[in-house]
Amino acid sequence: MITLKNINKRYKTAAEGEYALRDINLHIDEGDLVAIVGTSGSGKTTLLNLIGGLDRDYTGQVLIDGQDLGKLSDRALSDLRNRKIGFVFQQFSLLDHCSALDNVALPANFARGPVNFANPKQRAIETLKAVGLEHKLNAFPGSLSGGQKQRVAIARALLFKPKLLLCDEPTGSLDTQTGQQIINIFQELNREGYTIVIITHEARVSAAAHRVIRIEDGHLVDEKGAEA
Ligand SMILES: Nc1ncnc2c1ncn2[C@@H]1O[C@H](COP(=O)(O)OP(=O)(O)OP(=O)(O)O)[C@@H](O)[C@H]1O
Ligand SMILES: [Mg+2]
Repeated sequence: MITLKNINKRYKTAAEGEYALRDINLHIDEGDLVAIVGTSGSGKTTLLNLIGGLDRDYTGQVLIDGQDLGKLSDRALSDLRNRKIGFVFQQFSLLDHCSALDNVALPANFARGPVNFANPKQRAIETLKAVGLEHKLNAFPGSLSGGQKQRVAIARALLFKPKLLLCDEPTGSLDTQTGQQIINIFQELNREGYTIVIITHEARVSAAAHRVIRIEDGHLVDEKGAEA
């Protein structure tokens, strides 16, 4: 589903010869649950941004379902992102003045082209149910716990029925027990068929993954199994 070929990435402001990603080749199968680990500054977020089509400034190829993201127009790329990819971040990035339901349904207003559901609010209720928040539809973020906020953010990421979830330290702001609930949700979604890639610093998260990929200094070291 995801293939990276000969990826090199250097930020424009970086010193001469200083690469955030170096000679990355990687394939991630459909239906996999993958953890990306590595020290701070090793290139994890940079890698996730390339996979998610959020950053086009690199050399090499990023293929999603065989489509070379670098060959797509900005519009085609944003359509592909909408249809196929959901994003979850450490900071939940919810709108404080909107209910959980509106936070999840709102992206439907900005979608260009067809979406694969008829009623955004109905679809949002479905995804909030999937993360166990059917009793909090009208709650505002200020009244939700950290774990509940992250579950709203996951429900939002599921709105367009993506195949792929990209998560950047989704448990980084949560206590251990709440983080475990979020891990359980990712495992359940993975069993339902979602392909999930999670950047993490936590051994518990990588232990839950089927595969752990380590990045060191922009280089990729692929670890088999989830023994990390
Ligand atoms: N917008 C940017 N402009 C310039 N350099 C950047 C930018 N973002 C990241 N970098 C640099 O690229 C390298 C990789 O950064 P990246 O954010 O991918 O690391 P990371 O592994 O996600 O780290 P962390 O665990 O702290 O989130 C670092 O050296 C960082 O300083
Ligand atoms: Mg990062």
